[in-house]
Amino acid sequence: MAAILFFFLLLSANFLATTQQGHFNTSLGSSLTPTRNSSWLSPSGFYGFGFYQQGNGFCVGIFIAGIPQKTVVWKANRDSPPVPANVTLLLTGGGRLILQSAEGEETSIVNTPEPVAKASMLDSGNFILYNSDEEIIWQSFRNPTNIVLPGQGLLAGEELYSSVSETDQSTGIFRLKMQHDGNLVQYPKDTPDSSAYAYYSSSTYGRGDNVSLNLDGHLYLLNYTGFTIKNLVPGGYSTEETIYLMKVDADGIFRLYSFTTNQSNMSIVWASSDDKCSPKGRCGLNRYCVKNDGDIYCQCLPGFAVSGERGCQ
Ligand SMILES: *[C@@H]1O[C@H](CO)[C@@H](O)[C@H](O)[C@H]1NC(C)=O
Ligand SMILES: *[C@@H]1O[C@H](CO)[C@@H](O)[C@H](O)[C@H]1NC(C)=O
Ligand SMILES: *[C@@H]1O[C@H](CO)[C@@H](O)[C@H](O)[C@H]1NC(C)=O
Ligand SMILES: *[C@@H]1O[C@H](CO)[C@@H](O)[C@H](O)[C@H]1NC(C)=O
Ligand SMILES: *[C@@H]1O[C@H](CO)[C@@H](O)[C@H](O)[C@H]1NC(C)=O
Ligand SMILES: *[C@@H]1O[C@H](CO)[C@@H](O)[C@H](O)[C@H]1NC(C)=O
Ligand SMILES: *[C@@H]1O[C@H](CO)[C@@H](O)[C@H](O)[C@H]1NC(C)=O
Repeated sequence: MAAILFFFLLLSANFLATTQQGHFNTSLGSSLTPTRNSSWLSPSGFYGFGFYQQGNGFCVGIFIAGIPQKTVVWKANRDSPPVPANVTLLLTGGGRLILQSAEGEETSIVNTPEPVAKASMLDSGNFILYNSDEEIIWQSFRNPTNIVLPGQGLLAGEELYSSVSETDQSTGIFRLKMQHDGNLVQYPKDTPDSSAYAYYSSSTYGRGDNVSLNLDGHLYLLNYTGFTIKNLVPGGYSTEETIYLMKVDADGIFRLYSFTTNQSNMSIVWASSDDKCSPKGRCGLNRYCVKNDGDIYCQCLPGFAVSGERGCQ
């Protein structure tokens, strides 16, 4: 029933307009379970915070609920395994957002510096926790995983990490960092911020220490006084019926995606590289990357033999 409703919302051109669909503010004592009342929706019903299925289990995150295939845009406790269907997500009376197992064991979903008074899933895709003075004490937009949504941005010092795969949102092997030196740079996950390891750079080094990446139909870098110092994806693509998101994909390339109300899948608007072998470390130890048509292969370096699934020794 709910799915049919979302599909209608999607098909109608103004599906982002406010309806009485979702929750406005979630109060203390509210709970979710994987199978019943599984998410808190934004007012339009487009974004949801709550449980989504992964394999035979469930994860907690934010997803686009308004399209047939739930697209996950943020994941809580990113590297924790999926949980069984008998757990409960609770905004406790004491102001903690936790996952409670059937046996009563508690895991924090978000650690906040002070008790939460209410939670809010906004139509922008930002999930916000407020204290009793109505001040924001935590928001998903400032704690990104692998995706940036319109209006979110990536501020100096922040970084995105790729996911393991399209279906597993655990931390993958690549990162994209908005550096304090003004440069937007991509590195393999466990390397220092040094140009020796970089495989993508916006070439905006030295343009001020608060440069940010912004997305609103096009993708651009702004300096602290609001001056556009670089358009990564020029043009004004944004229309009311088009949704955009930017993602560091599992293959290490970051891409701008769009979808319109008449299509079910995202399409690629722009990619940081057309060379799928460009991400450093793509093939792991002792292997190199080979291109063949659109596909890539990893081959062992001369003198190394294939050993197991991932490497050469
Ligand atoms: C879902 O939550 C609402 C409000 O908290 C409650 O009235 C309703 O009974 C719940 N539905 C199910 C199926 O648990
Ligand atoms: C909860 O589900 C898990 C996995 O299905 C199971 O092992 C566990 O016994 C269940 N706990 C309770 C209290 O039902
Ligand atoms: C939800 O809470 C926020 C923060 O206190 C407040 O600004 C907003 O007006 C509330 N929304 C509704 C619909 O009550
Ligand atoms: C932003 O860029 C403009 C134009 O280059 C420059 O005049 C301004 O000083 C820059 N602001 C900062 C904070 O670097
Ligand atoms: C960068 O932002 C911080 C915090 O907002 C501010 O204190 C600092 O002056 C900014 N730096 C520049 C060069 O504008
Ligand atoms: C969606 O609609 C737009 C405008 O009507 C059209 O240009 C585009 O080709 C359509 N896309 C698909 C996948 O049907
Ligand atoms: C949408 O994407 C899925 C998964 O990648 C694919 O199986 C399906 O064929 C795609 N559908 C269309 C209409 O492109």
